Amino acid sequence: MKKLLLISTFLVMLFASALTFAVDIGVVLPTNVEPRWVQDETRFKEALKDTKYTVEILFSQGSPATERQNVEALVAKGAKVIIICPHDAVAAAASAEVAKKAGAYVISYDRLIMGTDAVDYYVTFDSVEVGKAWGNFLIQNVKKGTKGNPLYLYAGALSDNNSFLFFQGAWEALQPKIFDGTFRVINSSEAVKLMNKKNLTRDEMARIIGQVTTNWDFNVAKRKAEDDLTKAKTTDKGTVYILAPNDGTARAIADAFRADKAVKQYYITGQDAEKASVQYIIDGKQSMTVFKDVRLLVKDSINAAQLLLQGKKPATSGSYDNGKIKVPAIQSQIQVITKDNVKKILIDSGYYSEKDFQW
Ligand code: BGC
Repeated sequence: MKKLLLISTFLVMLFASALTFAVDIGVVLPTNVEPRWVQDETRFKEALKDTKYTVEILFSQGSPATERQNVEALVAKGAKVIIICPHDAVAAAASAEVAKKAGAYVISYDRLIMGTDAVDYYVTFDSVEVGKAWGNFLIQNVKKGTKGNPLYLYAGALSDNNSFLFFQGAWEALQPKIFDGTFRVINSSEAVKLMNKKNLTRDEMARIIGQVTTNWDFNVAKRKAEDDLTKAKTTDKGTVYILAPNDGTARAIADAFRADKAVKQYYITGQDAEKASVQYIIDGKQSMTVFKDVRLLVKDSINAAQLLLQGKKPATSGSYDNGKIKVPAIQSQIQVITKDNVKKILIDSGYYSEKDFQW
């Protein structure tokens, strides 16, 4: 009798633990220190309420080793699809390969995992378009016919493939206007050297990005902007144009420029439509952001994951070369947000609630 009780207790525990630990889809996000990725977590949780699949979301906190452990933990729990947004594009190949070896599908989320054939799909926004939107915005805000307008360039992290795509788009738009003298680049000697070249190689881009990288870190961004302003002459100030790579760094850079009395007016870019930046836009402290509707990215990833779990193939449009293979891509469009359309696009669409902001 006692034995039977023991066995049944054991079986109940086994069943309960299988229930608790079984995971169908694992999601690994780069860090929860940046609001961008917390946004993705929130949107994943909202979207997953309606699926029958079990999903677990883990953060890698900017560490490829943690990322790999996260993938190991998720495949150990039986995950058949792993959605990874890599911290470091090249280092993440190891994480993707762990998942592949365990028989799981790998979806690269927002950022491409480089140098491996262990990636099945890439779900992303059109990142070159993001950069183009920044460049065009800055150009549109130049007074017609003026020359020598000070331009400060900032970029993301060299370890993130997106930083190159954003920069490529921005450069394609800005280069003709740097070349014809409309803009004068203040803080990158490499950009000045390359100003007659529209299509840069990855190496050339890396040289510029290396000089103006924020490493996606708000503190680095602020320090870099302050250093640039210390070095700049008064003639490099007045009305200035700032290419900032995302909202977090844009706010940090904007704060530094606002604190400089010789800066009379600035135009600054951004992306992600983070709540704090939406408030900055309403207050006129940030000029624009590129809205990447995370709901679309999450929806596309979950759809793809569900199809894969059912043994079907997700539809793709185009592909991205990761240095090893051409990864089939599922791509979402972007939208430019300024003070003029912020309410229409972010509030009326239900993305954010009106009461979250001071108008
Ligand atoms: C993402 C951006 C984000 C940045 C920093 C990029 O790869 O596409 O949305 O702001 O990383 O985390």
